[in-house]
Amino acid sequence: GIPLAERTNIVLVGPMGAGKSTVGRHLAARLQMPFVDSDRELESRTGVDIPTIFEYEGEEGFRRREAAVLEDLCARCGIVLATGGGAVMRPENREQLQRCGLVVYLRTPVTLQLKRTARDRNRPLLQTEDPRARLEALLEVRDPLYREVAHLIVDTDREHLRSTVRLIARQY
Ligand code: S3P
Repeated sequence: GIPLAERTNIVLVGPMGAGKSTVGRHLAARLQMPFVDSDRELESRTGVDIPTIFEYEGEEGFRRREAAVLEDLCARCGIVLATGGGAVMRPENREQLQRCGLVVYLRTPVTLQLKRTARDRNRPLLQTEDPRARLEALLEVRDPLYREVAHLIVDTDREHLRSTVRLIARQY
């Protein structure tokens, strides 16, 4: 493994419902690294939840705040970072993430994403008549971006949580 003093970050990217937070928490525990979730960090900085930010500032306002949070978190060292599903939309975010650590794309079928996000009120982009169509449309745009930024791609439907965590830990 990488010596403690030189430890860079592990960055998890992928769509909503990919399991970034779950995998991240387990990975962090295994490697004894702090776990940080950029959406939770944004919420604690603003004191409001994600839907409220979307409501008052729109997606554009959310993306601006998200970029600022990612910039700060990327300056840290030795953390496991779970990003929001749209973190790869801005080119400057992609550059930033790729430079600050091992970027892992948790590739996940839409059906599994749907199952994990069902009845979730905390994801404004899924408050629609047809969440499946929304997830498919988002993935079509973002899958190439996740691939572009990733150093490692893990298929979460083929690996169980435990083997996903082990697989990433071994690459680190
Ligand atoms: C978003 C994903 C969410 C959150 C926000 C927007 C997206 O994060 O950042 O609701 O654009 O896909 P998760 O991927 O953790 O759900």
